[in-house]
Amino acid sequence: MTVSYKELGLVNTREMFALAIKGGFAIPAYNFNNMEQLQAIIRGCVETDSPVIIQVSSGARKYADSTMLRYMALGAVEMVKAAGASIPIALHLDHGDTFELCKDCIDNGFSSVMIDGSHHPYEENVKLTRQVVEYAHPRNVTVEGELGVLAGIEDEVSSEVSHYTRPEEVQDFVGRTGVDSLAISIGTSHGAYKFKPGQPVPPLRFDILEECEKRLPGFPIVLHGASSVVPEYVEMINKYGGKLEGAVGVPEEQLRRAAKSAVCKINIDSDGRLAMTAVIRKVLGESPKEFDPRKYLGPARDELIKLIKHKNEHVLGSAGHGKEIVAAIG
Ligand code: G3H
Ligand code: 13P
Ligand code: ZN
Repeated sequence: MTVSYKELGLVNTREMFALAIKGGFAIPAYNFNNMEQLQAIIRGCVETDSPVIIQVSSGARKYADSTMLRYMALGAVEMVKAAGASIPIALHLDHGDTFELCKDCIDNGFSSVMIDGSHHPYEENVKLTRQVVEYAHPRNVTVEGELGVLAGIEDEVSSEVSHYTRPEEVQDFVGRTGVDSLAISIGTSHGAYKFKPGQPVPPLRFDILEECEKRLPGFPIVLHGASSVVPEYVEMINKYGGKLEGAVGVPEEQLRRAAKSAVCKINIDSDGRLAMTAVIRKVLGESPKEFDPRKYLGPARDELIKLIKHKNEHVLGSAGHGKEIVAAIG
């Protein structure tokens, strides 16, 4: 049985991106795979009146179970209503790697999908992306494509080195595929080890971003690998038995700069993982007799709410734009 995202009360990303570009902020795209993460994302976004994209990789979808996921998304929408709030929620597939996976997500309530053909030769990427757009658009589902390759694991896709996006390709790619947004590679990477420790300013290629903006005026750009790898969490993890040496992320200042530009979706997964792991390690380290999951997952969830509120208010600038986008969607 197929279900449209509209039946679940979700929205696609079109109006979110239009208003984000106009307003000089970015929509947060938070990855999740379990209940506590989703509760924290929704609470954090309701409390800051922020629009939100909740996103799952194919691995996360398998982990959560695709049927369960549909009801989790519905639960998120209902949780917002029960809180008397009004924020738009998009359910997005992160790094989809095949047409079949994107189709399956669209048929199961996703309002937005990413088809990541970035590791394929250019013409194959165009063909695959176009195929997904042709299935998605008649159903009013939005599509994110990618040009350039980020280093690190992207689910099924992994690369040792990054390949920057070539600005001379972006117009042709967007024109021929019909994508609604484009992920570009400007030097970020996935995971907790993005740059070498001690580099004063991680060398993000804002010149490439600007060049893409010039060639695609007003077009939504997406930034992956955008966790800051918050040092306090890394320290806490290491203090309570973890071993994350030399973990470095994107400084918040650089994300603020990106959010004010044509970057209108910022992907964050690792920071949430680090926040929860840090607190879980601390609770279990200090209370070795504890075995009730609520006693460590509860505080971990509270920490994630704090992190999300901070990102929305002080980094992405999405706080205060939730109701406004719901009103624009009508
Ligand atoms: O882009 C990668 C995301 O952080 C998803 O990671 O494949 O481990 O769920 P995952
Ligand atoms: P981080 O690993 O920096 O959180 O990036 C997540 C991401 O890009 C998901 O697509
Ligand atoms: Zn990514």
